[in-house]
Amino acid sequence: MSRFDEVINRRNTNSLKWDMMEAIYQIEDASTILPMWVADMDFAAPEVVIKAIGERLNHAVLGYSIVDDSTTGSFVSWVKKRHDWTINKDWVLYHSGVVPAIASIVETFTKPQDKILITPPVYPPFSIVPTALDRGMEECVMVEKDGQYSLDFDAFEKSAAKEEVKLFILCNPHNPGGIVWSEDDLREMLRLCTKYNVLILADEIHADLMFDGHKHTPLAKIASEEDARIITCMAPTKTFNLAGVQIAMMIVSDDAMRSKLSENSASHGQMGPNTFAIAAMKAVYTEGEEWLAELLAYLSANMDLVIEKIPAAVPGINITKPQGTYLLWIDYRETGLEEQEVMERLLHTGKLALDPGSKYGESGRGFLRMNIACPRATLEDGIERFIKAFK
Ligand SMILES: Cc1ncc(COP(=O)(O)O)c(C=O)c1O
Repeated sequence: MSRFDEVINRRNTNSLKWDMMEAIYQIEDASTILPMWVADMDFAAPEVVIKAIGERLNHAVLGYSIVDDSTTGSFVSWVKKRHDWTINKDWVLYHSGVVPAIASIVETFTKPQDKILITPPVYPPFSIVPTALDRGMEECVMVEKDGQYSLDFDAFEKSAAKEEVKLFILCNPHNPGGIVWSEDDLREMLRLCTKYNVLILADEIHADLMFDGHKHTPLAKIASEEDARIITCMAPTKTFNLAGVQIAMMIVSDDAMRSKLSENSASHGQMGPNTFAIAAMKAVYTEGEEWLAELLAYLSANMDLVIEKIPAAVPGINITKPQGTYLLWIDYRETGLEEQEVMERLLHTGKLALDPGSKYGESGRGFLRMNIACPRATLEDGIERFIKAFK
């Protein structure tokens, strides 16, 4: 029995994943629908987090907090140990999340009408946030072959070379493609962005979620001083299931860029992360490794189970195991079904809420994103619901 086998009822806990389905999926009653959509896990937070937050609560004064050096130091040690990347604690700026960090970076380093380069299908806020800030989008759609995505670097160069393109948002590992970008690919992205003076925002929030021997390479780790300017975003929130606690780091080695970002924070009156996030972060980065090792093995087995069961039961479904992230990208194109019909069948026949692929860009049409980070019993239920929907 694994600690991740415990089924915890999350309905009526103000959970985005469990308590928002009526609005998200435009249905009247979601009380019998199983959610396997947004990227949070149905697992309890690591015991060290519950203990650290509990200890913090033993001190009943909850005034403004600061991040002390030992907490930032725990993150610096984590990236060194897990990703062999040496960073200086002065390079680390805090934010309440990676998505708000994306907004700050877009606002600080680009102007309205500038364009932001992305590689769809990709995490929706990469376009939602810049568009809301009145920036244009430049899309270099990834090439999919036999379940594997890659970049067409000729197309990427054409996009990066456009005068209006000022920022590239890299997703590494890639959500929803599950790609852990190779060093060669990263070097080519760096070379082209340097050549055309395009700033890179490397969103590496899924960096710790690696499977089957794949290894994450932080983009900034392999960059030289002459290379493109890079801002890396990382967080403990996906790795340790702390999304509701809200914390993220922007790692910026360039002093001038860091000052500009700090000025932007000041212009929005942004304070440091909240009291509980600081306690939680230090706990997981100093004592979370054992929990994470068990989690990764559990998630990997969950993915294997879906890949064994669903394609065998439903003709026309193809699933490639992600190299990183706990998000399965399910290809149903060979069933010949349209997205609308698939979503109706899933919601009304299967009673299962998955993300439709077109949410990640038009190039995602024909795919579904399934979050398999749940207890095995819940997963087995989800598999049955999926199969029922396609029968
Ligand atoms: C690539 C990527 N970036 C950012 C986020 C969300 O970050 P945050 O909750 O820190 O805003 C997610 C969540 O799924 C994600 O997949």
